[in-house]
Amino acid sequence: MRTQVGIIGAGPAGLMLAHLLHLRGISSVVLEIRSRDYIEHRLRAGVLEQGAVDLLVESGVGDRLLREGMVHEGVNLQFAGERHRVPMTELTGRAITVYGQQEVVKDLVAARLSAGEPILFEVSDVRLHGLDVDEPVVAFRHEGRDVELRCDVVAGCDGFHGVSRSAVPEGVLTTYERTYPFAWLGILAAAPPATNELVYCHSERGFALVSMRTPELSRLYLQVPPDENVAAWPDDRIWAELQARLAMADGWRLTEGEVLEKGVTAMRSLVVEPMQWRRLFLAGDAVHIVPPTGAKGMNLALADVKVLGEALAAWYADGRDDLLASYSDTCLRRVWRAQHFSWWMTSMLHRFPGHDPYEVKLQLSQLRYVTTSPAYARSLAENYVGIP
Ligand code: FAD
Ligand code: PHB
Repeated sequence: MRTQVGIIGAGPAGLMLAHLLHLRGISSVVLEIRSRDYIEHRLRAGVLEQGAVDLLVESGVGDRLLREGMVHEGVNLQFAGERHRVPMTELTGRAITVYGQQEVVKDLVAARLSAGEPILFEVSDVRLHGLDVDEPVVAFRHEGRDVELRCDVVAGCDGFHGVSRSAVPEGVLTTYERTYPFAWLGILAAAPPATNELVYCHSERGFALVSMRTPELSRLYLQVPPDENVAAWPDDRIWAELQARLAMADGWRLTEGEVLEKGVTAMRSLVVEPMQWRRLFLAGDAVHIVPPTGAKGMNLALADVKVLGEALAAWYADGRDDLLASYSDTCLRRVWRAQHFSWWMTSMLHRFPGHDPYEVKLQLSQLRYVTTSPAYARSLAENYVGIP
């Protein structure tokens, strides 16, 4: 097989890149190890920055997002039993939209299929060759056959557990990372959202988050120990813990409902630099991970491929390689801002096992400052809605 751009992974990064390239008349083949059904139902992120919404809408895949997405103009921080709203739109002129990542994936897969462009599901044994001589080949198995895909460029969009990053020779990449001494237990519940906007909650019992997917579905998270077993959390225990952490002085209570899904997510920060080696360009979770507290992962993945799509378009149309050469530096500026914001939100809101009462007092002081100083609130808001 032969194509211009070989794309490994059909997450938000790989699918959006394929779509942007198609709009510019550049051919690509998308390879995905999972089935279509699996990637369209994998429950993950839910918050789109204004810039991500603009990208989806302007590239023609935003119709359902505009109809079904829930636009939020504020976000709540709760601590010491009180809830404080940060009016994001008033402070920044921008908003976020709540729309599930699997819905973004469904919309992009539909666009790919209706364009009649190749996307191969359930491939296996994906390997990269020829990068050192600038003749990339992606070898893989599909439907019982060995296939070789020859391309000009490879986009490694295969997430944290993918193979692309490891195709770069030892010594080229530098890794910066942190793991956090806790994880998130997330549930999807058949319960109308208890609040109009998200609630990030600091409590003595640990962090909790109130989010949503639709007017009928709530998405809720609890900080738990890092290696927590889901089996330790029967539904009753989850609701009791959410109610305890989210309790307010005025007696407000969370709406409960049937738990439809449950899972534990590890919390880590990771950046691998540079995001390119020769004809291999890495994007999204394949090169950087943030803890979910800043709601940045999917947004960064989309922002990377917007830059990459434009750089590849300039290279194919005019033979310009300056944008490809600066791809990594351009993306890393946004990536590091999101790293800092996600680490900062995580540090301010979670209960750390080694924290003494002094550190808890510092967290509370910072939360009070962020929610009372317009200057600090604007800083949080502009990072949360996404810096243009
Ligand atoms: P992925 O979505 O991981 O896609 C990579 C794809 O590559 C996958 O489909 C995978 O199956 C495939 N693949 C892997 N290996 C191979 C291979 N060898 N060959 C071919 N294909 C392969 N982000 C936000 O912005 N906002 C949020 O609110 C948010 N909340 C989150 C909540 C949770 C619980 C979790 C887990 C994550 C959250 N994130 C959030 C992060 C977000 O989900 C990720 O950052 C996002 O999925 C990154 O997209 P991606 O395309 O880079 O990678
Ligand atoms: C979600 O709705 O899944 C969600 C929202 C905000 C976050 C993380 C996850 O910070």
